[in-house]
Amino acid sequence: MIDVKDLSLTYHSSGRQTHLAVDKVSFSVQKGQVYTLLGPSGCGKTTTLRCVAGLEKPDAGEILIDGSPVSSSVTNSWVPPSQRAIGMVFQSYAIWPHMSVFENVAFPLRYGPFKVSSADIQTRVTRALSQVQLDHLKDRPAPHLSGGQQQRLALARAFVMEPKVLLLDEPLSNLDAKLREEMRVELRQLIKSIGMTAIFVTHEQIEALTLSDVIAVMNNGKIVQEGTPLDIYQRPTNPFVANFIGQSNLLNGDVVEATAGQRAIRVKTPLGTLACEATQEVAAGAKVVVSIRPEHVEIEKSAENQGNALQGTLASTSFIGNAMDCALRVDGQILKVLMHAERTPPIGSPVTVYVSNRHCLAMRA
Ligand SMILES: Nc1ncnc2c1ncn2[C@@H]1O[C@H](COP(=O)(O)OP(=O)(O)O)[C@@H](O)[C@H]1O
Ligand SMILES: [Mg+2]
Repeated sequence: MIDVKDLSLTYHSSGRQTHLAVDKVSFSVQKGQVYTLLGPSGCGKTTTLRCVAGLEKPDAGEILIDGSPVSSSVTNSWVPPSQRAIGMVFQSYAIWPHMSVFENVAFPLRYGPFKVSSADIQTRVTRALSQVQLDHLKDRPAPHLSGGQQQRLALARAFVMEPKVLLLDEPLSNLDAKLREEMRVELRQLIKSIGMTAIFVTHEQIEALTLSDVIAVMNNGKIVQEGTPLDIYQRPTNPFVANFIGQSNLLNGDVVEATAGQRAIRVKTPLGTLACEATQEVAAGAKVVVSIRPEHVEIEKSAENQGNALQGTLASTSFIGNAMDCALRVDGQILKVLMHAERTPPIGSPVTVYVSNRHCLAMRA
């Protein structure tokens, strides 16, 4: 449905300064998918999205929507934004304060390149407003809506154009925490119920994990890993992803034992030699980073987790509601561990923890 191939864009700011914002980015979004670009601020997410919308002209690469090029440095083709059949929702909803809810949604149908008759406006606006459950508020002045309602209004205005593709740039970041949580689920259901294809941009990993069919993690203008939310979380293939998605203990290590074609390896780390699972093929002697998630460190031994036992002292604890966020000192190193609040021993206690081999993920450094 959307194909982006080798997209690059360099910004030229004042003077001779240049900044490579998007660096040979390629990805494909299938029809009906929610595809998310996730990464830290400044990694090139918005620029990539603006290229798809036609609001930026890339220096190189190709963008196809439904198989037709809308931007190509190969054939030199260019389709202006208004003709790309795209709906956009931004962080600031850009709602017109002097108009009613109805008129805000009707606006793109009254003016612009896709004008329709008054009767059609009535039908389409009513349908878009009912899709986002705002039909009962259609006559209210737009500023008199809550944050979440304004957010839904911005979505209705994008839906009313019946775009093939919906582009969403951090649309939830202006909402308060509780509402953001509700809207994460609601937004996915809404996109799915209408059957739209969407590219979603966010720097919030939870948002990406909840909303997406596929996540592309970006860093420094590049996609560093693509996969389902579960894949990205459970099988990061590089240290940046392991650290950016969820929390991780990252340990530098040297592979001391590896057999060709086998994932099971042994790695010497500052916490001792660990039985690990390699996320890529590595040979003995290779430098790797071992990622251990705090929630995968257990204080009770089981059949599965006896591969790695580590002895340490509980250095600090901090109550975070659903768990106790603990720091364990092992051989002078700190290992972050999530414990059950009621089963956390006093600070200073000696503690033995266990991590199964498959939760010690070794990736190339
Ligand atoms: N108009 C611009 N001129 C110069 N540099 C820009 C411009 N817009 C963005 N940048 C720079 O390009 C990089 C990528 O920006 P952006 O795509 O907005 O990142 P993100 O959305 O991931 O936070 C950043 O380093 C940013 O400072
Ligand atoms: Mg941005």
